[in-house]
Amino acid sequence: MTDYTQLCKELNLISEGVESCTTLLSNASALLFDRLEELNWSGFYLNNGERLILGPFQGKVACTAIDFGNGVCGTAAKEGKTLAIDDVHTFEGHIPCDGASNSEIVIPLYVRETLFGVLDIDSPKLARFTEEDREGLEAFARALEELIDSVYDKDPSLPVPGEIQVKTMASMGEPKLCIKLGNAYYYGERVKQDQKKAVYWYEKAAAMGDAEGECLLGYALRNGIGCEKDEKRALGLFALSADKGFAMAMYNLGYCYERGIGTVQDDRIAFDWYQKARELGYEE
Ligand code: SME
Repeated sequence: MTDYTQLCKELNLISEGVESCTTLLSNASALLFDRLEELNWSGFYLNNGERLILGPFQGKVACTAIDFGNGVCGTAAKEGKTLAIDDVHTFEGHIPCDGASNSEIVIPLYVRETLFGVLDIDSPKLARFTEEDREGLEAFARALEELIDSVYDKDPSLPVPGEIQVKTMASMGEPKLCIKLGNAYYYGERVKQDQKKAVYWYEKAAAMGDAEGECLLGYALRNGIGCEKDEKRALGLFALSADKGFAMAMYNLGYCYERGIGTVQDDRIAFDWYQKARELGYEE
């Protein structure tokens, strides 16, 4: 059985004076790989605001990126809790990297109120990670979080916590946050104006079936703002959004029919859509 108290002490000792996060994590993964028995992989996946990307590790080459909600790592990150899986083959959506892995433990890491990444450890032995291991490794993770926090202001490669926090939540499936972020980029509020990035976040919201996202994306596509003009797709998006009762999309449908954008010109249909938008209180 690993002496986790000793392991945490060692982690702090080897990290003294370190000012780079990559250095910290590299040695942390090596320490775990060296001191825990029956492991075939130990390392980190780091949050870049959109997904988890492969960080420092020991073991065989591994998959380079994991979406939130995917695999054991993405699920632990999304749910914000440790997952100890006795038999990974029974875990739906498990991402096999090293065929030798049979059990796995994933612990999310939080630094400055933001999901920093996950610690991922694999073993060829079924049910390798006991309750004691879980407790010990969580203590190790907490010690590591403090060390990462201590290098945060010295390591320019680390992301700005507030910014990455909003992106993370949006990437985890919050369409309204995607729209907020899209609008911030669209109008250049609190961030550098970037209409391509705005469209990227509207796309995400639209992909989640959000009516406002569909309408805003439609607007960008119809006018070729931050993207290639695509009037047909714009019309389709307005229709989807209007179908959900979104008044601004009804107005935009009217606009498209009035001018024959992405469809044949039709005053009658245009009038009907304008009328419906107005009934819902939408006036341009
Ligand atoms: N098995 C992980 C993928 C990472 S590798 O194990 C290193 C998962 O399902 O998320």
